[in-house]
Amino acid sequence: MKKAYLLLLALFLFSCSQPNRSSKEEAEIEGRIRKLISQMTLEEKLGQMSQFDPGQFRGDQDLKQAIKDGKVGSILNLVGAKRINELQKVAVEESRLGIPIIIGRDVIHGFRTIMPIPLGMAAAWNPELTEKAMAVAAKEAASEGVHWTFAPMIDISRDPRWGRIAESCGEDTYLASRLAVAMVKGFQGDDPSNVDRIAACAKHFVGYGAAEGGRDYNTAYIPETQLRNDYLPPFKAAKEAGVLTFMSGFNDLNGVPVSGNEFTLKTILRNEWGFNGMVVSDWASIYEMIAHGYAADPKEAAEKALRAGVDMEMTSNCYVSGVQQLLDEGKLNMQTIDRYVANILRVKFQLGLFEHPYTDETRAEKTILCPEHLEVAKEAASESFVLLQNNHQILPLSSNMKSVAVIGPLADAPHDQMGTWVFDGKKENTVTPLVALRQKLGEQRVNFAKGLAVSRTRTTEGFAEAIQAARKSDVALLFLGEESILSGEAHCLANLDLQGAQNDLLDAVAATGKPVVAVIMAGRPLTIGHVLEKADAVLYAWAPGTMGGPALAEMLLGETVPSGKTPVTFLKTVGEVPLYYNHKNTGRPADYSNWTYLDDIPVEAGQVSLGNTSHYLDAGFEPLFPFGFGLSYTSFAYSDLRLSTGSMPVDGSIDFSVTIENTGKYKGSEVVQLYIRDRVGSITRPVKELKGFKKISLEPGEKQQVTIRLNANDLAFFNGTNYVVEPGWFDVWVGPHSNEGLHAEFSIR
Ligand code: NOJ
Repeated sequence: MKKAYLLLLALFLFSCSQPNRSSKEEAEIEGRIRKLISQMTLEEKLGQMSQFDPGQFRGDQDLKQAIKDGKVGSILNLVGAKRINELQKVAVEESRLGIPIIIGRDVIHGFRTIMPIPLGMAAAWNPELTEKAMAVAAKEAASEGVHWTFAPMIDISRDPRWGRIAESCGEDTYLASRLAVAMVKGFQGDDPSNVDRIAACAKHFVGYGAAEGGRDYNTAYIPETQLRNDYLPPFKAAKEAGVLTFMSGFNDLNGVPVSGNEFTLKTILRNEWGFNGMVVSDWASIYEMIAHGYAADPKEAAEKALRAGVDMEMTSNCYVSGVQQLLDEGKLNMQTIDRYVANILRVKFQLGLFEHPYTDETRAEKTILCPEHLEVAKEAASESFVLLQNNHQILPLSSNMKSVAVIGPLADAPHDQMGTWVFDGKKENTVTPLVALRQKLGEQRVNFAKGLAVSRTRTTEGFAEAIQAARKSDVALLFLGEESILSGEAHCLANLDLQGAQNDLLDAVAATGKPVVAVIMAGRPLTIGHVLEKADAVLYAWAPGTMGGPALAEMLLGETVPSGKTPVTFLKTVGEVPLYYNHKNTGRPADYSNWTYLDDIPVEAGQVSLGNTSHYLDAGFEPLFPFGFGLSYTSFAYSDLRLSTGSMPVDGSIDFSVTIENTGKYKGSEVVQLYIRDRVGSITRPVKELKGFKKISLEPGEKQQVTIRLNANDLAFFNGTNYVVEPGWFDVWVGPHSNEGLHAEFSIR
């Protein structure tokens, strides 16, 4: 047992600062905030603390009057520079104090140029590209008057039944943390007041992804050790990256709804992390504390949310209706309200809204869907694709091929290809695989038959045409998966197989004997064991966005090479949920020598003869694909793992170097991944944890030494009492995915 602990809590405290402002500027802003607050009536303060959907007003006049009266601090779900300027003019020029409105919008994975869904972006394992993609989203949204996006969504998601896994970075804390930083930087840049930038919002604080049963909005039970080690770090990383706002979520966490949760919002976010930005509730999540059974009425809901520290209420009006009475009853004081108003005004200052409240109405036309943005979208889509199977190297398709069959409900589905949570993307701007393949190969070489109208279609009447298309082609490309509406908020599934008659369509096409390539577009990792059996190659394409078609056509034809890696574990069957790579061990870890497959169990076998280890009789213990997995058209050899030292002090570091060689025929990129295991801890530690990765590109035959540095601090964890780095022995693996790698060991002394 290790004895020496290094207390790291201090490192986690009070490290807040906005990177781009001098302390003089900050002091000046604080002075202006104080002055404004001293002039405000309670009604105006509550106005700042309220966010409205335009639909909540009886019409334009009603909305404008409310703005004029200082009752509207923020509006969501409004886009268009002209309209927003019109309303902003009322706020700035006609309201008593001229405080600008902040306009929020769900700009989740693009504005008009739609990038892959966040889970797809995560599969690219490329923080620089993610940052670039979110910068595009910010620029387009800003050109249409949006000031603030409700992204990044950085909920750790280990349950593919949960529809919102699509919006997440997947199951891993380290990957999500790196991408959280990239997204915050992409949206906000170094200076969020720049006209091309918008404020980001780290959501949903916290634990939303742990919804029981994968049913949206459901209760989450997360012990504090797991909360701090697995769920909070991406939020901490976003805060460190300077995210201006946080959103409190819908869920009940350990018995307390997170929009009224003093432990997470006050103790952790404000006191430990020193966050001085704004916290907005999720849509009516304060009011919903009544349904949770945590507040008797709107007034009590307001009291609990205010105690916890939610500055702005999204769409419900518990604050407006309850605060005066809470003040009268002495349950709340004006200083608290003033502090919250200050948090809101601070963000408005940081965005430069007082200096430039209006949007240049000519910018959108030059910005939206411009060629550079489409190029980024294509690159992002391309890097998000994960090649899961490629028997006989069927991909890339041979250039001698005379014709291809393009089949399936997702082959030409411009709306569904954009994925979930898209409000501003338009299907007429989306290029589908069918269109892109026709452009590349010529109409006459593409035999198209949908086979099924949409992913849920059960009738087989389109099969004959699909079979015919396959028969007259050299290869059948099947575009299967999920319509966009099958993932996202409140779109959870209990069955993760392909919907409708898609597996039957695959069987029918495969029965022609033609080689089959399955491209799966989906918002989650589906259970695709059957597809792997029937198709020669399987390329997982998530919902790839506006430029998904061209990116897929290029990859299928070998102009680009797959480099994506799974950001989530793929399951064989839904009954395995939750199955994630960085689980704890048991006292009886599963292994093959101790496992008998269901069908092989002798009749009337004795209880102990099957091996008493942690597994399923029918599904074993290994996933369909491990976290971090993805093939390429080329191959990479890992060799020569070296450590700069075998032992580091608690404040030291070790460089891990490995040589990667491209041993195949194509230029390609590889995500080199570093995992560790802390062998013995004061609490049990996961069997593996990702602690570093680098994506590199190599020409055929090229070798490169890749070095990843690990600080002892990176191995800190919360042990129930403190954040500690514990001396002792660690395993390290550097490899192509979580289940393979060169191994070494090191120690912390
Ligand atoms: C509810 C969702 O949970 C949240 O993510 C979103 O930002 C808001 N609605 C606003 O649309």
